[in-house]
Amino acid sequence: MSTRRNRQIVLARRPVGAVSADCFDVAECEVPSLDDGEALLEVRYLGIDPTIRGWLDERGNYMPGVAIGECVRSNGVGIVVETNNPREYPLGRAFMHLTGWQQYCVVQANPFPPITMVPEGVQLTDVLGALGHIGITAYVGVLRVACPQPGETFVVSAAASGVGSIAGQIAKMQGASVIGIAGSAPKCLWVVEELGFDACIDYKTEDVAARLKELVPAGVDVFFDNVGGELLDLVLRRLALRARVVLCGDISTYDNDTPAPALRNVRYLMGKRARMEGFNTLDHWDHYPEAAAQLAVWLAEGKLHTREHILDGLDRAPEALVRLFRGDHLGKLVVQVSDD
Ligand SMILES: NC(=O)c1ccc[n+]([C@@H]2O[C@H](COP(=O)([O-])OP(=O)(O)OC[C@H]3O[C@@H](n4cnc5c(N)ncnc54)[C@H](OP(=O)(O)O)[C@@H]3O)[C@@H](O)[C@H]2O)c1
Repeated sequence: MSTRRNRQIVLARRPVGAVSADCFDVAECEVPSLDDGEALLEVRYLGIDPTIRGWLDERGNYMPGVAIGECVRSNGVGIVVETNNPREYPLGRAFMHLTGWQQYCVVQANPFPPITMVPEGVQLTDVLGALGHIGITAYVGVLRVACPQPGETFVVSAAASGVGSIAGQIAKMQGASVIGIAGSAPKCLWVVEELGFDACIDYKTEDVAARLKELVPAGVDVFFDNVGGELLDLVLRRLALRARVVLCGDISTYDNDTPAPALRNVRYLMGKRARMEGFNTLDHWDHYPEAAAQLAVWLAEGKLHTREHILDGLDRAPEALVRLFRGDHLGKLVVQVSDD
């Protein structure tokens, strides 16, 4: 056993409907001794992602559900503080991994999903957002699936989310006219004033159908959807000829225990000769290096703007997940577990 003690946030009970802080408990345990090839990460930051909600259900989401009493699965970034594998995991280097909601995480040699060494000089939180899975999802979703052309109209839901905010900025770089849909006036202001979107609709206070008609009278060429459900159904009625509907996520349904109601407006795809296509970033591993490199260049050149919402302390991870589903944050939600 190591002399270090570990603090974890574990799943106490499965959420029914919306996730709440009482679904979680705090647990303390010894940090185990390292086997050959292993290293110990001290976790610095956790990325609070919508996919965590799926892992709290028994059926899981691309990966099995987290068991009751088990540490909550999550992306994180940590520093190597002990190593039995200095070639792969040098002391002091930062890595992004499925660390879980805990202070210390043991990593094995060649884990799956693969662990990523954070390049020197990169801000650690960036690899949980623009330079990691979130930015890469936006990159492949826009450039390999949606493919917006100059002059086309590109509408993105959850426009102020990590993926949505980056997707809109990339579409804008391709010459599209970009309209966001987001859940508050400050979010709409941010995507227009700071990210350069052409307009943004507040779906909580505005009539989305009427505003779309006004802003995109000739119809939506590309709908990059992060929300699903009612909002997706509504946009299907406003498609332009040969539109593309890209299904990135359907966060409005993640709390549902039963399948969401069927879409009523699918027939508009036929009338408009439109295409609807889902994608999963995990199928685009081969594009990760290219995407991460390009996103880093855009970030350094000031062509890509990001924002973080950081909550301080491991014990605030449950609160962060609750906030994510309420939309009560502006920017990529991150929990700081220990000091840089
Ligand atoms: N396909 C893939 O490979 C892939 C990979 C990563 C993520 N994703 C998906 O991409 C989407 C965005 O992820 P992210 O990590 O960028 O999110 P994020 O930054 O955590 O933001 C999530 C936002 O979703 C909105 N939201 C939450 N509940 C909602 C509801 N019931 N109805 C409408 N909007 C709701 C909220 O914004 P508002 O205040 O605007 O409501 C919230 O701020 C998610 O659907 C996620 O599952 C897909």
